[in-house]
Amino acid sequence: MSDPIRLLILGTGGMAANHAEKFAEIEGVQLVGGVDTRPAQLTAFCDKFGIQGRFATLDAALAWGQFDAVTNVTPDAAHYATTLPVLAAGKHILCEKPLATTAAQAQDMADAAQKAGVVNMVNLSYRNVPALQQAAKMVREGAIGPVRHFEASYLQSWLTQPAWGDWRSESQWLWRLSSAHGSKGVLGDVGIHILDFTTFIAGESATSISCLLKTFDKAEGGRIGEYVLDANDSATMQLHLSGGAIGTVAATRFATGHMNDLRLRIYGDLGGLEVRFEGAVSALRACLGADVLTPTWRDVACPTLPSIYERFIAALRGTGAAEPTFARGAELQRILDAAETSAAQSGASIAV
Ligand SMILES: NC(=O)c1ccc[n+]([C@@H]2O[C@H](COP(=O)([O-])OP(=O)(O)OC[C@H]3O[C@@H](n4cnc5c(N)ncnc54)[C@H](O)[C@@H]3O)[C@@H](O)[C@H]2O)c1
Repeated sequence: MSDPIRLLILGTGGMAANHAEKFAEIEGVQLVGGVDTRPAQLTAFCDKFGIQGRFATLDAALAWGQFDAVTNVTPDAAHYATTLPVLAAGKHILCEKPLATTAAQAQDMADAAQKAGVVNMVNLSYRNVPALQQAAKMVREGAIGPVRHFEASYLQSWLTQPAWGDWRSESQWLWRLSSAHGSKGVLGDVGIHILDFTTFIAGESATSISCLLKTFDKAEGGRIGEYVLDANDSATMQLHLSGGAIGTVAATRFATGHMNDLRLRIYGDLGGLEVRFEGAVSALRACLGADVLTPTWRDVACPTLPSIYERFIAALRGTGAAEPTFARGAELQRILDAAETSAAQSGASIAV
């Protein structure tokens, strides 16, 4: 039996509860510490998950030091400043997406992680979707031939219905609407997921992008309290991939009728795949071989997969690959920066 792995949870807000639940389910993982700048939040979280070590700052937790790995679930703008000291202390780290708020910072983090020689992963959580992994495998095996065209979308609606809480009053939604609070809008929040989804399945990197971003009027004077609501709500992108394919990727918080749905349709010379994660259900359909003549689409069975939390722990134990790495996080951040540059130039094509 392997030694227990002692985990520190950095940031104890909404998504951290998901991390705590999933890590606590893994045999041999101990949640030993939590860090949050909001004392009441820290106490409530640590009480709920039975976490003994409680720290108001990362520095205090690092001085204590009795942990092996960190899961960084702070808001996007805090990832850079909090991850570098963790790496300097030689601790393994899983960091939430997006890795940083600029490509330069994300690259610094990837370089620092490589130098530290620790396990470093970015929580691109849709890598857990069985249909995504099966589709990627089929594309790698040549099932659809050379990729020519794709259309992808990530659809949310938390600005038009209250199922996840009231965005007008809850800080976890308000920081996502404000660039001064480090948000890159829907582009950084979930656009990064669908960009990863698309390019991972295609097995190719983005070489250029054209992007339009839109921020809708949502509150009087464009602000609520300290939050200026200037971060983008909808993004539409056109991409060229390294293998020559072109396609579209969209992300929005205004897809009324969709809670949290991801889709990719991808076509090659020999067939097409339709990858869906809708209503939290993974599904893959394919039209291949002789079926392209009719055309007939068939469901494809997809094996279930270990979660990214299980894979992080496996990587720490040396029994699995540390994927996706900070280097992948930095690659995606370059696409985000290019998308912003493009949007600032009314959708001009920008090299990634
Ligand atoms: N992978 C996914 O599918 C997914 C889903 C949701 C959120 N996220 C990511 O998770 C991160 C957190 O999102 P959230 O919804 O939990 O936000 P949140 O606002 O609910 O929680 C963030 C917490 O971090 C704390 N915090 C802020 N600065 C800190 C610092 N310097 N040190 C310690 N604590 C600090 C805040 O007080 C808050 O409690 C974001 O990067 C977000 O993009 C990822």
